[in-house]
Amino acid sequence: MTPDSHEAAVLAQLIHFTPRGDERGSLVALEDCEVGFPIRRVYHIFHTAPGVTRGLHAHRDLRQVAVAVTGSCTFLLDNGRTRETVRLDDPTVGLVIQSMIWREMSDFSPDCVLLVLASHNYDESDYIRDYDQFRREVSALA
Ligand code: TYD
Repeated sequence: MTPDSHEAAVLAQLIHFTPRGDERGSLVALEDCEVGFPIRRVYHIFHTAPGVTRGLHAHRDLRQVAVAVTGSCTFLLDNGRTRETVRLDDPTVGLVIQSMIWREMSDFSPDCVLLVLASHNYDESDYIRDYDQFRREVSALA
C-alpha cells in the first residue's frame, strides 16, 4: 500500500492497496493503522436504489476510508472552499476522507458495494448534516 500524496487532486487522497494475487484470484488485507488510523468500525453500503444520493454530511472528528469493493460510485468532497469529485471503481483503491469534509455519494452502479473503514464508533453528535452549519464550523476553524 502506498499513500499517494502526489495526486493532482487536493481533497481526493487515494491509497493504493497491495493485492495478494495468485492464480485463484486476488485478496486485499488491511491491518492495524494501514489506512492512517486505527480502524474502529467497518460498514458497507449496498443495494443502493437508482438515482439516490447518500452522505450529505460532514464529520467533526471522524476519519474514513471508502473502497468500492464491487461496482462503482462517485464521491463529491467539499472542504468549504474547494469541491472535487472522484469515481471509485477499483477494489484496490481507498479514498481517504478526513474530518470536516462534506461528502455526497451518487451514481452508484447497481452492483456497488461500498466498504467504509472508520476511525471511531458511530456517534450521531459527530455529524454535521446541514451544509450551512458545516460552512460556519469550517470558517470558525480557519
Ligand atoms: P446514514 O448516515 O444516513 O448513511 P449515509 O450517510 O451513507 O447516507 O446512515 C443510515 C442509517 O444507518 C442511519 O439510521 C444510521 C445508521 N448507521 C449506524 O447505525 N451505524 C453506522 O455506522 C452508520 C454509518 C449508520
